[in-house]
Amino acid sequence: MTLSCIAPSEKLIVALDLPDAAQAWKMVERLGDSVGFYKIGMELAYGGGLELAPELTAAGKQVFIDLKLHDIGHTVEKAVAQIARLGARFLTVHAFPQTLAAARRGAEGSSLQVLGVTVMTSYDDSDLVAAGYRLTLRELVALRALQAKEAGIAGLILSADEAPAIRALVGADLLLVTPGIRLAGAALGDQKRVATPLEAIARGADFIVVGRPVLAAPEPREAALAIQREIAEALASPNA
Ligand code: C5P
Repeated sequence: MTLSCIAPSEKLIVALDLPDAAQAWKMVERLGDSVGFYKIGMELAYGGGLELAPELTAAGKQVFIDLKLHDIGHTVEKAVAQIARLGARFLTVHAFPQTLAAARRGAEGSSLQVLGVTVMTSYDDSDLVAAGYRLTLRELVALRALQAKEAGIAGLILSADEAPAIRALVGADLLLVTPGIRLAGAALGDQKRVATPLEAIARGADFIVVGRPVLAAPEPREAALAIQREIAEALASPNA
């Protein structure tokens, strides 16, 4: 899948990082038609929010379930098959070879697309050293990207910094989805490898995932629309 297949308005995925389905739904109503794609992550899912997935789909929204699964292959395969029934488009698993292969098997025959998490965007090289890795962040992202391609999954989660090198490595077939998005001059929170929406799209991201910059904005709908404008600006630039 190439960039041109995805409508600009679909490229923004808002992370509904809220404690329960009621608050998440209130945010969805507040954002209205400014957002067509939502991510249900761990906070919301463990607060009973998985039930929102079919409701969002019924309301014409696309859904990304971000549970970052990682377990023995049998368990991952069965869990992915269960999640595939919810009607979501994307699901994340950690990009370890056994986990990727099991997730692909679990999603077989459904429309669920598996995304492999390469290295968290809140990590830098020193976090990898502390966790016992000998590879640099860039080396580890590249290794996991190749393993994800080998496993035949749909795409990768990575930071916008790595997107150009990884696109060159894996080609056009894998979707590149980038969290760690911050508006110019904004607080980073716990994210370390960040980019603006414009930078991320210009570097080849197919989708950007944005949580706090929308949820914590005084006017979330305005923030989402401003991000959509940046996406459109990046796509209109000659290098897009
Ligand atoms: O609030 P913020 O925009 O930092 O939220 C980013 C979202 O993307 C969070 O829901 C987080 O769990 C998710 N994410 C991430 N880094 C990854 C994978 C997912 O920040 N590598």
